[in-house]
Amino acid sequence: MSETVAIVGTGLVGRAWAIAFARAGWQCRLHDTAPGAAAAARERIGPLVDDLVEAGLLDDAAPVLARITVADDLASALADVAWVQESVPEDVAIKKALWAELDRLAPADALLVSSTSAIVPSRFTENLAGRHRCLVAHPLNPPYVIPAAELVPAPWTDDAVMQRARAVMESIGMAPIVMKKELDGFVMNRLQGALLEEAFRLVDEGYCSAEDVDRGLKDGLALRWSFMGPFETIDLNAPGGVADYCRRYEQIYQRLQPTMLHRADWNGPVLERIVAERRAKVPQTALADRQRWRDRRLMALTAHKRNAARDIGD
Ligand SMILES: NC(=O)c1ccc[n+]([C@@H]2O[C@H](COP(=O)([O-])OP(=O)(O)OC[C@H]3O[C@@H](n4cnc5c(N)ncnc54)[C@H](O)[C@@H]3O)[C@@H](O)[C@H]2O)c1
Repeated sequence: MSETVAIVGTGLVGRAWAIAFARAGWQCRLHDTAPGAAAAARERIGPLVDDLVEAGLLDDAAPVLARITVADDLASALADVAWVQESVPEDVAIKKALWAELDRLAPADALLVSSTSAIVPSRFTENLAGRHRCLVAHPLNPPYVIPAAELVPAPWTDDAVMQRARAVMESIGMAPIVMKKELDGFVMNRLQGALLEEAFRLVDEGYCSAEDVDRGLKDGLALRWSFMGPFETIDLNAPGGVADYCRRYEQIYQRLQPTMLHRADWNGPVLERIVAERRAKVPQTALADRQRWRDRRLMALTAHKRNAARDIGD
Protein backbone atom coordinates (compact mmCIF):
# COMPACT_ATOMS: atom_id res chain seq x y z
CA MET A 1 0.00 0.00 0.00
CA SER A 2 1.36 3.42 -0.88
CA GLU A 3 1.93 5.97 1.85
CA THR A 4 0.05 9.20 2.30
CA VAL A 5 1.30 12.72 2.99
CA ALA A 6 -0.80 15.68 4.11
CA ILE A 7 0.29 19.02 2.71
CA VAL A 8 -1.04 21.66 5.11
CA GLY A 9 -0.80 25.09 3.49
CA THR A 10 -0.92 24.92 -0.30
CA GLY A 11 0.88 28.10 -1.43
CA LEU A 12 4.09 28.23 -3.41
CA VAL A 13 5.96 25.70 -1.30
CA GLY A 14 3.11 23.37 -0.32
CA ARG A 15 2.08 22.73 -3.90
CA ALA A 16 5.71 22.16 -4.91
CA TRP A 17 6.11 19.56 -2.13
CA ALA A 18 2.93 17.88 -3.39
CA ILE A 19 4.56 17.32 -6.77
CA ALA A 20 7.73 15.92 -5.16
CA PHE A 21 5.78 13.38 -3.07
CA ALA A 22 3.20 12.43 -5.71
CA ARG A 23 5.87 11.92 -8.36
CA ALA A 24 7.47 9.34 -6.04
CA GLY A 25 4.20 7.42 -5.64
CA TRP A 26 2.82 8.97 -2.44
CA GLN A 27 -0.87 9.74 -2.11
CA CYS A 28 -1.06 13.42 -1.42
CA ARG A 29 -3.81 15.35 0.39
CA LEU A 30 -3.90 19.13 0.09
CA HIS A 31 -5.41 21.21 2.88
CA ASP A 32 -5.58 25.00 3.27
CA THR A 33 -7.69 27.25 5.49
CA ALA A 34 -8.27 29.86 2.76
CA PRO A 35 -11.52 28.92 0.99
CA GLY A 36 -10.85 27.34 -2.41
CA ALA A 37 -7.05 27.58 -2.00
CA ALA A 38 -6.34 23.84 -1.97
CA ALA A 39 -8.50 23.25 -5.06
CA ALA A 40 -6.81 26.20 -6.80
CA ALA A 41 -3.41 24.73 -5.88
CA ARG A 42 -4.47 21.42 -7.39
CA GLU A 43 -5.29 23.28 -10.63
CA ARG A 44 -1.97 25.13 -10.65
CA ILE A 45 -0.02 21.88 -10.22
CA GLY A 46 -1.15 20.58 -13.65
CA PRO A 47 1.01 22.90 -15.83
CA LEU A 48 3.96 22.50 -13.44
CA VAL A 49 3.88 18.73 -13.86
CA ASP A 50 3.58 19.19 -17.64
CA ASP A 51 6.81 21.22 -17.52
CA LEU A 52 8.53 18.23 -15.87
CA VAL A 53 7.36 15.96 -18.68
CA GLU A 54 8.54 18.46 -21.29
CA ALA A 55 11.99 18.62 -19.61
CA GLY A 56 12.29 14.83 -19.77
CA LEU A 57 12.16 14.53 -15.96
CA LEU A 58 8.86 12.64 -15.85
CA ASP A 59 7.27 10.12 -18.23
CA ASP A 60 3.59 10.67 -17.55
CA ALA A 61 1.75 13.49 -15.78
CA ALA A 62 -1.59 11.71 -15.32
CA PRO A 63 -0.69 9.23 -12.52
CA VAL A 64 1.05 11.98 -10.57
CA LEU A 65 -1.97 14.27 -10.77
CA ALA A 66 -4.31 11.39 -9.88
CA ARG A 67 -2.52 10.93 -6.55
CA ILE A 68 -3.16 14.55 -5.47
CA THR A 69 -6.52 15.19 -3.82
CA VAL A 70 -8.09 17.97 -1.77
CA ALA A 71 -9.21 17.60 1.87
CA ASP A 72 -11.61 20.26 3.13
CA ASP A 73 -10.97 19.76 6.84
CA LEU A 74 -7.76 19.18 8.73
CA ALA A 75 -8.87 15.95 10.43
CA SER A 76 -9.66 14.23 7.13
CA ALA A 77 -6.41 15.54 5.62
CA LEU A 78 -4.47 13.89 8.44
CA ALA A 79 -6.25 10.53 8.59
CA ASP A 80 -3.77 7.64 8.20
CA VAL A 81 -0.91 9.81 6.99
CA ALA A 82 2.74 8.88 7.48
CA TRP A 83 4.06 12.42 6.95
CA VAL A 84 2.63 15.91 7.45
CA GLN A 85 4.35 18.69 5.50
CA GLU A 86 3.32 21.99 7.06
CA SER A 87 3.78 24.90 4.65
CA VAL A 88 1.82 27.78 6.19
CA PRO A 89 3.13 31.39 6.39
CA GLU A 90 6.42 32.15 8.13
CA ASP A 91 4.82 33.35 11.39
CA VAL A 92 5.59 31.61 14.65
CA ALA A 93 2.13 32.32 16.14
CA ILE A 94 0.36 30.74 13.15
CA LYS A 95 2.70 27.74 13.26
CA LYS A 96 2.30 27.27 17.04
CA ALA A 97 -1.50 27.23 16.86
CA LEU A 98 -1.53 24.87 13.89
CA TRP A 99 1.09 22.48 15.30
CA ALA A 100 -0.98 21.92 18.45
CA GLU A 101 -3.74 20.70 16.13
CA LEU A 102 -1.40 18.64 13.97
CA ASP A 103 -0.03 16.87 17.06
CA ARG A 104 -3.55 16.24 18.37
CA LEU A 105 -5.05 14.97 15.11
CA ALA A 106 -2.29 13.19 13.20
CA PRO A 107 -1.65 9.46 13.74
CA ALA A 108 0.77 8.92 16.64
CA ASP A 109 3.49 7.51 14.37
CA ALA A 110 3.24 10.22 11.68
CA LEU A 111 6.18 12.59 11.29
CA LEU A 112 5.29 16.28 11.66
CA VAL A 113 7.50 18.33 9.38
CA SER A 114 7.70 22.08 8.76
CA SER A 115 8.89 23.85 5.61
CA THR A 116 9.89 26.94 7.62
CA SER A 117 12.71 28.98 6.11
CA ALA A 118 14.16 30.30 9.32
CA ILE A 119 12.19 29.46 12.47
CA VAL A 120 14.03 26.89 14.58
CA PRO A 121 11.68 23.98 15.39
CA SER A 122 12.00 24.35 19.19
CA ARG A 123 10.01 27.60 18.89
CA PHE A 124 6.77 25.89 17.83
CA THR A 125 7.09 22.32 19.15
CA GLU A 126 8.27 22.69 22.77
CA ASN A 127 4.94 22.10 24.46
CA LEU A 128 3.65 19.31 22.24
CA ALA A 129 3.07 15.80 23.65
CA GLY A 130 4.50 14.38 20.40
CA ARG A 131 7.44 16.76 20.16
CA HIS A 132 9.86 13.85 19.64
CA ARG A 133 8.43 13.38 16.09
CA CYS A 134 8.72 17.00 14.98
CA LEU A 135 11.36 18.47 12.68
CA VAL A 136 11.96 20.93 9.87
CA ALA A 137 12.49 19.95 6.24
CA HIS A 138 13.43 23.24 4.60
CA PRO A 139 13.55 23.07 0.80
CA LEU A 140 14.77 25.50 -1.78
CA ASN A 141 12.05 26.37 -4.22
CA PRO A 142 10.81 24.38 -6.05
CA PRO A 143 11.65 21.11 -4.24
CA TYR A 144 10.48 18.97 -7.17
CA VAL A 145 13.40 20.42 -9.16
CA ILE A 146 16.02 21.28 -6.50
CA PRO A 147 16.74 18.19 -4.38
CA ALA A 148 18.53 19.68 -1.34
CA ALA A 149 16.39 19.98 1.79
CA GLU A 150 17.74 20.62 5.26
CA LEU A 151 16.41 18.37 8.01
CA VAL A 152 16.61 20.20 11.33
CA PRO A 153 15.84 18.56 14.68
CA ALA A 154 14.57 20.33 17.77
CA PRO A 155 16.54 19.42 20.91
CA TRP A 156 13.90 16.75 21.68
CA THR A 157 13.53 15.17 18.22
CA ASP A 158 14.26 11.41 18.31
CA ASP A 159 17.29 10.18 16.37
CA ALA A 160 15.07 7.44 14.90
CA VAL A 161 12.72 10.14 13.60
CA MET A 162 15.62 11.91 11.89
CA GLN A 163 16.74 8.63 10.34
CA ARG A 164 13.26 7.94 9.07
CA ALA A 165 12.94 11.47 7.71
CA ARG A 166 16.24 11.05 5.88
CA ALA A 167 15.10 7.73 4.40
CA VAL A 168 11.78 9.17 3.23
CA MET A 169 13.44 12.21 1.68
CA GLU A 170 15.95 10.04 -0.17
CA SER A 171 13.19 7.70 -1.33
CA ILE A 172 11.35 10.59 -3.01
CA GLY A 173 14.51 11.81 -4.73
CA MET A 174 15.51 14.61 -2.35
CA ALA A 175 19.08 15.16 -1.14
CA PRO A 176 18.73 15.71 2.62
CA ILE A 177 21.20 17.79 4.63
CA VAL A 178 20.85 16.30 8.12
CA MET A 179 21.68 18.87 10.79
CA LYS A 180 22.85 17.58 14.16
CA LYS A 181 21.21 20.46 16.05
CA GLU A 182 19.12 23.51 15.26
CA LEU A 183 20.69 26.84 14.31
CA ASP A 184 19.19 30.12 13.11
CA GLY A 185 19.39 30.19 9.29
CA PHE A 186 20.05 26.43 9.16
CA VAL A 187 22.88 25.68 6.66
CA MET A 188 21.83 26.99 3.26
CA ASN A 189 20.60 30.44 4.27
CA ARG A 190 23.80 30.98 6.27
CA LEU A 191 25.87 30.14 3.19
CA GLN A 192 23.67 32.28 0.96
CA GLY A 193 23.73 35.06 3.56
CA ALA A 194 27.54 35.15 3.60
CA LEU A 195 27.61 35.47 -0.19
CA LEU A 196 24.87 38.11 -0.34
CA GLU A 197 26.60 40.21 2.32
CA GLU A 198 29.76 40.33 0.20
CA ALA A 199 27.78 40.97 -3.00
CA PHE A 200 26.03 44.00 -1.45
CA ARG A 201 29.33 45.30 -0.03
CA LEU A 202 31.11 45.10 -3.41
CA VAL A 203 28.36 47.04 -5.19
CA ASP A 204 27.79 49.49 -2.31
CA GLU A 205 31.47 50.44 -2.19
CA GLY A 206 31.65 50.89 -5.98
CA TYR A 207 33.97 48.01 -6.85
CA CYS A 208 31.70 46.48 -9.51
CA SER A 209 28.18 46.40 -10.89
CA ALA A 210 25.44 44.04 -9.74
CA GLU A 211 25.63 42.45 -13.19
CA ASP A 212 29.32 41.67 -12.72
CA VAL A 213 28.64 40.07 -9.33
CA ASP A 214 26.04 37.88 -11.00
CA ARG A 215 28.47 37.10 -13.81
CA GLY A 216 31.14 36.03 -11.30
CA LEU A 217 28.71 33.41 -10.11
CA LYS A 218 26.85 32.24 -13.21
CA ASP A 219 29.88 32.28 -15.53
CA GLY A 220 32.39 31.51 -12.80
CA LEU A 221 32.12 30.02 -9.34
CA ALA A 222 28.66 28.50 -9.68
CA LEU A 223 29.61 26.44 -12.73
CA ARG A 224 31.64 24.24 -10.40
CA TRP A 225 29.23 24.67 -7.52
CA SER A 226 26.39 23.22 -9.59
CA PHE A 227 27.94 19.78 -9.23
CA MET A 228 30.37 20.01 -6.31
CA GLY A 229 30.58 22.09 -3.15
CA PRO A 230 33.25 24.47 -1.85
CA PHE A 231 35.12 21.74 0.03
CA GLU A 232 35.42 19.48 -2.99
CA THR A 233 36.34 22.57 -5.06
CA ILE A 234 39.33 23.40 -2.87
CA ASP A 235 40.27 19.72 -2.56
CA LEU A 236 40.78 19.76 -6.35
CA ASN A 237 42.41 23.20 -6.53
CA ALA A 238 45.79 22.31 -5.02
CA PRO A 239 48.04 19.43 -6.05
CA GLY A 240 47.98 17.91 -2.57
CA GLY A 241 44.26 18.31 -1.94
CA VAL A 242 42.41 20.25 0.74
CA ALA A 243 45.23 20.32 3.30
CA ASP A 244 47.63 21.64 0.66
CA TYR A 245 45.05 24.28 -0.37
CA CYS A 246 44.71 25.46 3.22
CA ARG A 247 48.50 25.66 3.66
CA ARG A 248 48.94 27.63 0.43
CA TYR A 249 45.93 29.93 0.45
CA GLU A 250 44.52 30.45 3.93
CA GLN A 251 46.52 33.66 4.29
CA ILE A 252 44.57 35.26 1.40
CA TYR A 253 41.24 34.69 3.14
CA GLN A 254 42.71 35.59 6.52
CA ARG A 255 43.72 38.96 5.08
CA LEU A 256 40.27 39.53 3.52
CA GLN A 257 38.18 38.52 6.49
CA PRO A 258 38.56 41.71 8.61
CA THR A 259 37.41 43.75 5.57
CA MET A 260 34.23 41.69 5.42
CA LEU A 261 32.95 42.34 8.91
CA HIS A 262 30.97 45.56 8.36
CA ARG A 263 27.52 45.45 6.76
CA ALA A 264 26.25 47.26 3.70
CA ASP A 265 22.72 48.57 4.30
CA TRP A 266 20.70 46.50 1.80
CA ASN A 267 17.94 49.12 1.85
CA GLY A 268 20.34 52.07 1.55
CA PRO A 269 21.51 53.86 -1.64
CA VAL A 270 22.99 50.62 -3.02
CA LEU A 271 19.49 49.26 -3.47
CA GLU A 272 18.54 52.01 -5.95
CA ARG A 273 21.53 51.06 -8.11
CA ILE A 274 20.73 47.35 -7.98
CA VAL A 275 17.03 47.94 -8.72
CA ALA A 276 17.91 50.18 -11.69
CA GLU A 277 20.22 47.51 -13.11
CA ARG A 278 17.77 44.68 -12.57
CA ARG A 279 14.71 46.51 -13.95
CA ALA A 280 16.69 47.56 -17.05
CA LYS A 281 17.29 43.85 -17.66
CA VAL A 282 13.88 42.51 -16.63
CA PRO A 283 10.95 44.95 -16.20
CA GLN A 284 8.76 44.48 -13.12
CA THR A 285 5.89 43.26 -15.29
CA ALA A 286 8.06 40.50 -16.78
CA LEU A 287 9.14 38.98 -13.44
CA ALA A 288 6.56 36.16 -13.49
CA ASP A 289 7.67 35.12 -16.99
CA ARG A 290 11.26 35.28 -15.87
CA GLN A 291 10.44 32.98 -12.89
CA ARG A 292 9.01 30.45 -15.31
CA TRP A 293 12.20 30.80 -17.40
CA ARG A 294 14.25 30.15 -14.23
CA ASP A 295 12.31 27.00 -13.45
CA ARG A 296 12.70 25.73 -17.02
CA ARG A 297 16.46 26.39 -16.89
CA LEU A 298 16.61 24.57 -13.54
CA MET A 299 14.82 21.58 -15.06
CA ALA A 300 17.21 21.55 -18.02
CA LEU A 301 20.13 21.67 -15.58
CA THR A 302 18.64 18.84 -13.52
CA ALA A 303 18.26 16.70 -16.64
CA HIS A 304 21.85 17.49 -17.63
CA LYS A 305 23.15 16.65 -14.12
CA ARG A 306 21.29 13.36 -14.16
CA ASN A 307 22.75 12.41 -17.57
CA ALA A 308 26.26 13.61 -16.65
CA ALA A 309 26.20 11.65 -13.37
CA ARG A 310 25.25 8.54 -15.34
CA ASP A 311 27.76 9.06 -18.15
CA ILE A 312 30.70 10.65 -16.32
CA GLY A 313 30.11 9.73 -12.67
CA ASP A 314 28.94 11.49 -9.51
N1 LIG B 1 8.65 30.89 -0.77
C1 LIG B 1 9.80 30.23 -0.70
O1 LIG B 1 10.65 30.35 -1.61
C2 LIG B 1 10.07 29.29 0.44
C3 LIG B 1 11.12 28.37 0.33
C4 LIG B 1 11.33 27.45 1.38
C5 LIG B 1 10.49 27.48 2.49
N2 LIG B 1 9.49 28.41 2.58
C6 LIG B 1 8.63 28.37 3.77
O2 LIG B 1 7.46 27.62 3.45
C7 LIG B 1 6.35 28.12 4.21
C8 LIG B 1 5.24 28.52 3.25
O3 LIG B 1 5.70 29.54 2.39
P1 LIG B 1 4.95 29.88 1.01
O4 LIG B 1 5.89 30.77 0.25
O5 LIG B 1 4.42 28.65 0.39
O6 LIG B 1 3.73 30.77 1.57
P2 LIG B 1 2.34 31.12 0.83
O7 LIG B 1 1.88 32.40 1.43
O8 LIG B 1 2.51 31.01 -0.66
O9 LIG B 1 1.35 29.93 1.28
C9 LIG B 1 0.91 29.75 2.59
C10 LIG B 1 -0.46 29.06 2.53
O10 LIG B 1 -0.81 28.66 3.87
C11 LIG B 1 -2.22 28.86 4.03
N3 LIG B 1 -2.52 28.87 5.46
C12 LIG B 1 -2.40 29.89 6.35
N4 LIG B 1 -2.72 29.46 7.61
C13 LIG B 1 -3.06 28.16 7.49
C14 LIG B 1 -3.47 27.15 8.42
N5 LIG B 1 -3.58 27.41 9.72
N6 LIG B 1 -3.76 25.90 7.95
C15 LIG B 1 -3.65 25.63 6.63
N7 LIG B 1 -3.25 26.53 5.69
C16 LIG B 1 -2.95 27.78 6.13
C17 LIG B 1 -2.50 30.15 3.28
O11 LIG B 1 -3.88 30.27 2.95
C18 LIG B 1 -1.60 29.97 2.05
O12 LIG B 1 -2.28 29.31 0.98
C19 LIG B 1 6.91 29.28 5.04
O13 LIG B 1 7.26 28.84 6.33
C20 LIG B 1 8.14 29.71 4.25
O14 LIG B 1 9.12 30.34 5.06
C21 LIG B 1 9.26 29.30 1.57
